[in-house]
Amino acid sequence: MKALLCKQYGPPESLVLEDVPRPAPPGEGQVLLRVRACGVNFPDLLLIENKYQERPSLPFSPGAEVAGDVAAVGPGVANGIREGDRVIAMIGSRGFQEETLADATRCVPLPDSMDYATGAAFTLTYGTSYHALVDRARTAPGETLLVLGATGGVGTAALDIARNLGARAIAAGGSDAKLEAVREIYGVRDTVNYATAEEPFKDRVNRLTDGRGADVIYDPIGGEAFQQALRCVAWEGRILVVGFAADGANLPQARTNLLLLKGSSLVGVFWGRFTREAPERSARNFDTLFGWYADGRLRPHISHRFRLDEGIEALRAVAERRVVGKCVVVMDG
Ligand SMILES: NC(=O)c1ccc[n+]([C@@H]2O[C@H](COP(=O)([O-])OP(=O)(O)OC[C@H]3O[C@@H](n4cnc5c(N)ncnc54)[C@H](OP(=O)(O)O)[C@@H]3O)[C@@H](O)[C@H]2O)c1
Repeated sequence: MKALLCKQYGPPESLVLEDVPRPAPPGEGQVLLRVRACGVNFPDLLLIENKYQERPSLPFSPGAEVAGDVAAVGPGVANGIREGDRVIAMIGSRGFQEETLADATRCVPLPDSMDYATGAAFTLTYGTSYHALVDRARTAPGETLLVLGATGGVGTAALDIARNLGARAIAAGGSDAKLEAVREIYGVRDTVNYATAEEPFKDRVNRLTDGRGADVIYDPIGGEAFQQALRCVAWEGRILVVGFAADGANLPQARTNLLLLKGSSLVGVFWGRFTREAPERSARNFDTLFGWYADGRLRPHISHRFRLDEGIEALRAVAERRVVGKCVVVMDG
């Protein structure tokens, strides 16, 4: 089978497409998947540069999130997954290859109404943003939600979910063209460009909210934007700490007097751990999300699709911040 391999750590250009042996038959609790599509995520870039907390042994292919068909089921699989099922699987790595092994417990059935590419783009982003907005921030109808990094994977999912929760979203991003795209896709009225704004974006957010600030701030980027977030959160607001895309090496610090003055809360979000600590609650979240999808209430957006032999270009599109929503590698072109 074909695989796009990381044989030595480095940028996307150092990956090589090779013919490799098929995976071993699935072991205890595992399934073998025929990969149809693989989502491309920011951590894939960290993984191939050996900057991620997980370190698969070389050589490996990146790709944490796949959709595909179950080709074989190993012993001891107890969650009803069968050969021939269409599934979405979180695998951490080894998704940029035609077949891969997955723990059956990390697989969920792909809804009939969802195609493979959407399936591979859905779980991480929508799972994270639903958990953040509903479980962690308890976002209420009518509240104002400021989404930083609003044009990216988790950011667009947050905008999409906010519409369904009846919250008013303000989208903040670093490119006017990408912000225009999310205005159209998600019907967002107010946008803030944190890269070019002449005024600090906290002032614009405060103006857009008549001086109240945002009730919930969704922050997947950190950096200077986080400092501004501390200054435009509403009384009793919640700032969701989701990620540090802007500068993972310098984690932002919060001056606690700012939290005191607003009666506000900093709320951590770690979706991967949540799915392991509370699998039943996570499954219920997906019941809601898949139900919304089947009813046409969600609009997962894929701006870039590539074949496996174009996987380097796929990773570069993510690294160069060209993507709106998600980028996906689709195996059959
Ligand atoms: N806590 C959790 O459970 C959890 C789950 C999933 C993801 N995450 C984290 O959330 C973050 C975002 O993930 P994602 O999948 O949405 O990534 P993504 O699709 O690459 O989007 C990140 C967005 O951040 C903005 N950004 C600002 N400064 C940036 C910089 N220096 N480099 C790259 N992007 C920058 C970009 O928008 P502009 O170009 O418009 O600024 C980009 O659209 C990552 O750090 C990821 O690890 C956390």
